[in-house]
Amino acid sequence: MSFAISRRQFIAGSAALIGASRLKPAWAKAAPVALPIPTLVDGTNSEPVDMKIQTGEWSFKPGVKTQTLGFSQNYLGPTIRTRQNSELNLHYQNNLNEPVAVHGHGLHVPGDVDGGPQLEMAPGDRWQPSLSIVQPAATCWYHSHTHGKTGDQVYRGLAGMIIIDDELSDSIALPRQYGVDDLPVIIQDRTFDAQGRLVYSLNDAGEDGWFGETVVINGAISPVARVPAGKVRLRLLNGANARFYIVTFTDNRTFHKIASDGGLLAAPVPMTTMEMSPGERCEIVVDLTDGGTAELLTLFEDEFDEGEEGIISGMLSNFALSGKPVPQPSLSLITDASLPAHTEPLPEKLATIIRPKESEIQRTRDFILDMEDGEGGSHGNHGDHALMDMTINGAAMDMSVINEKVNRGVWERWRIRSNQGAHPFHVHGCSFLIEQMEGAAVSPDQSGWKDMVVLDDDDWSEIVVRFDYPANEQFPYMYHCHILEHEDRGMMGQFTVT
Ligand code: C2O
Ligand code: CU
Ligand code: CU
Repeated sequence: MSFAISRRQFIAGSAALIGASRLKPAWAKAAPVALPIPTLVDGTNSEPVDMKIQTGEWSFKPGVKTQTLGFSQNYLGPTIRTRQNSELNLHYQNNLNEPVAVHGHGLHVPGDVDGGPQLEMAPGDRWQPSLSIVQPAATCWYHSHTHGKTGDQVYRGLAGMIIIDDELSDSIALPRQYGVDDLPVIIQDRTFDAQGRLVYSLNDAGEDGWFGETVVINGAISPVARVPAGKVRLRLLNGANARFYIVTFTDNRTFHKIASDGGLLAAPVPMTTMEMSPGERCEIVVDLTDGGTAELLTLFEDEFDEGEEGIISGMLSNFALSGKPVPQPSLSLITDASLPAHTEPLPEKLATIIRPKESEIQRTRDFILDMEDGEGGSHGNHGDHALMDMTINGAAMDMSVINEKVNRGVWERWRIRSNQGAHPFHVHGCSFLIEQMEGAAVSPDQSGWKDMVVLDDDDWSEIVVRFDYPANEQFPYMYHCHILEHEDRGMMGQFTVT
């Protein structure tokens, strides 16, 4: 049983196995912890933002200390808030005794400040990129992009959020009080051993990447946030190494998705369940005007069969009826009437999204992702996925090879599919528009600017994309699968923009 998940089948197989691990563990019965809110750092005035890459100690579980990594903090990093037309200066200092590269995921910046694997800092080194922020408001993030070590370093904590504002996002009626009614929600999963240490091994990761057993939100297990009795905006980031989540609420309430990876949608989209791939961001607004509590669920997509969508989109009672363990909320929002509430109705219109005309699209490129048993297969050792060949268009990532050369400022159509399994595909240096996903017409909630697209092994996913910034051979951009174990095993390519 080692075939990769075809999401079309919403895979099965592991429900019983993984289900058991989701039974409420004893330590979870302790008093709930408050949602950690990463420090907000002003990145609008070109004052350098200090980013010390350091080791730390962090309590995921009350009273248990875990060795972690972070940026100027013990686990994860500060939220950097910048805005359109400002200079963001970052001062990285690598205090680890291993090399680190840090990428700004979703940022429209040239290759020489993009932070791909070519921009690695040796132990003790600094890197001080100066970023001109030109793109519109969006929720982006930064994370380790170290060659062959991305999965391990992100897992230990090297990730954080970037918020970009602009005049439009300032002027429309949306909650925007950071940490009050505008919350960063970094969703990850982690496995701990008996001593509370993080368990991770690229070599032991399965074909579908490394799945942690326990969901952590900003590094906390099932935390609680006190929020005003009004509209609350959640900036959801799927920061997991490999897990696709199904996001929903225990009471099946309707929420509105207002933004995707690259910024605001054309209009709010009402939803009750939403899938998120690794690397993806979704901003949603939850209405708590009536008070009470909203409980967010982040279900593991790999635990559900296709026929079980009814369970997911239903109430918790459906879990009881189905015999599946009742999932624990990943985050509880509890209203506090004393906090200042945003109660204005959601705007009917958000951003204006202009798609290119067909006549503007100058060229088409195809990308086929593949994973095959390499040496490991010939030894009959199916467990050794480290020896699988992970490729794009037949080639594994090679730092000395430029796989594609793209012309700056022209629209292209990229068609992507895989020969095996589902993959979240990411492209540096741009936002793109999805034309079709897994062979199907794109839904309204995926019709905005994106830098992640999911593809499967039957049908093409298609995007239209234009690169406006240069990336030379020394500092090329990357495209890759955002299952970090696939990326680390070679499912990545490099391209220049000239
Ligand atoms: Cu979020 Cu090249 O990565
Ligand atoms: Cu990126
Ligand atoms: Cu993949």
